[in-house]
Amino acid sequence: MTALYLERYLNYGLSQRELQSDRPIIGIAQTGSDLSPCNRHHLVLAERLREGIREAGGIAIEFPVHPIQETGKRPTAGLDRNLAYMGLVEVLYGYPIDGTVLTIGCDKTTPACLMAAATVNIPAIALSVGPMLNGWFRGQRTGSGTIIWRARELLATGEIDYEGFIKLVASSAPSTGYCNTMGTATTMNSLAEALGMQLPGAAAIPAPYRDRQECAYETGRRIVEMVREDLKPSDIMTKASFENAIRVNAAIGGSTNAPIHLAAIARHLGIDLPLESWQRLGLDIPLLVNLQPAGEYLGEDFYRAGGVPAVVGQLIGQGLIAENAITANGRTIGENCRDARIEDEAVIRPYARPLKERAGFMVLTGNLFDSAIMKTSVISEEFRQRYLSDPADPDAFEGRAVVFDGPEDYHARIDDPELAIGDRDILVMRGAGPIGYPGAAEVVNMRPPAALIERGVHALPCIGDGRQSGTSGSPSILNASPEAAAGGNLALLRTDDRIRVDLKTGRVDMMLTEAEIAARRQAFDQAGGYRYPAHQTPWQQLQRAVVGQLETGAVLEPAVAFQRISQTKGLPRDSH
Ligand code: FES
Ligand code: MG
Repeated sequence: MTALYLERYLNYGLSQRELQSDRPIIGIAQTGSDLSPCNRHHLVLAERLREGIREAGGIAIEFPVHPIQETGKRPTAGLDRNLAYMGLVEVLYGYPIDGTVLTIGCDKTTPACLMAAATVNIPAIALSVGPMLNGWFRGQRTGSGTIIWRARELLATGEIDYEGFIKLVASSAPSTGYCNTMGTATTMNSLAEALGMQLPGAAAIPAPYRDRQECAYETGRRIVEMVREDLKPSDIMTKASFENAIRVNAAIGGSTNAPIHLAAIARHLGIDLPLESWQRLGLDIPLLVNLQPAGEYLGEDFYRAGGVPAVVGQLIGQGLIAENAITANGRTIGENCRDARIEDEAVIRPYARPLKERAGFMVLTGNLFDSAIMKTSVISEEFRQRYLSDPADPDAFEGRAVVFDGPEDYHARIDDPELAIGDRDILVMRGAGPIGYPGAAEVVNMRPPAALIERGVHALPCIGDGRQSGTSGSPSILNASPEAAAGGNLALLRTDDRIRVDLKTGRVDMMLTEAEIAARRQAFDQAGGYRYPAHQTPWQQLQRAVVGQLETGAVLEPAVAFQRISQTKGLPRDSH
């Protein structure tokens, strides 16, 4: 164990005896703040963490993580994941911290913390802040995020006014905690548990429940033992545990942001997790969890029904989980979850009676991009009949491209009668990737023009080089890599071009000849490439220069060379 430089840590009340006691020093990486309301409850939970740490013989040192709030950070919270990562790496390595509790929650806070723990590789355990309580409006569950897409439609067609819009949306956020839907937050917290980085059953407990406080206390106790056992992230997050997480993601109906974040964590551990593994391992897994946006229920229901262990238990029953993967409690995921029961089969379905078949992601390729993903389970019957009803070609559709360069362009023109958007058109969003936006924004899911919604068309196919909110159920082709701003072929597409999507072969192609594509490429290069907005902050400029594409996690590429630095780089030099 290490000792902190004494007098400055004495000055707020720690004693010399404590500081020189050789007890494990446990960092509490605090992601909650007034700026990060989803994670703010961690300020309360930290008290119970401290009690657990202290009781097990450790000394707790709480410090702030760069705040990330999904809905508040402009131009997108996607820009901040790597910044928080880098900051946390410096803290965990540069201070004499023996182990750390990662306080996870809102979308990007979870991957940022796990990525840093991967790079530094000191003993680490995650504590989820937990989802909000269920939202209700006139007797119906209103899910955070998901209700916004619905409310925007109602507002666009004049069915509600602005006040009604606010009321409806606010009903979905009734308490402290993160989004109560199966959005990116519930997804990533569930996957942090599936990866083994939380105590079993820890992810789903709603934030305000007393069980959440108990979980914080147990997490505090456990990290001290993990330091004594030297149980590190690289022991827990192995290739097998990532593959478990991919399967769990399909069964819970997880967010399309998960492949990005898991790729990032894996790369910082030096684990090869190609995008194709999402289709190979995940596509055929059925949807078991009946949560919005794919289903009906919300976070409280998921917890009562058994949470992540119940889902893992179902997958174990089918031989779909590597049971020997070790988890934070020192036992294997098989030991933890083998006997987990489903407590409410309306919310978590048994494997034999799923909500939907084949709930994982399809990985697509073609002449528009090298890779993109699609969650085929959210394709509605309405959509299927409109696009996939040709008996000669039931898995393919072709449509006219309507191309938007960024969300401002989309908002300005979507209802423009001149565009004459029809119900067989395909909306394309570009300039929304890690470089173009910058940070890769959640803007690919685009509502159809109001005139179409009034006719009952609630979704058009969307394709883009950005991301989609996990709370949106749109059938979109997302995360296209390389993005237009990196010179991907999406940049060559024009409105009125035809696009063909074939879900059988997994191809998405613009219907242009090779010669036409080559001519456009030449003109594009001569014109100096894709135009994107100027840098507005130093970080935007720095990140744009080194960030990778969504397919490979959109990490800071030079950071990947730094692995397990607490083992490989020795101690940092003394500062005085
Ligand atoms: Fe923070 Fe959804 S906005 S969890
Ligand atoms: Mg989001």
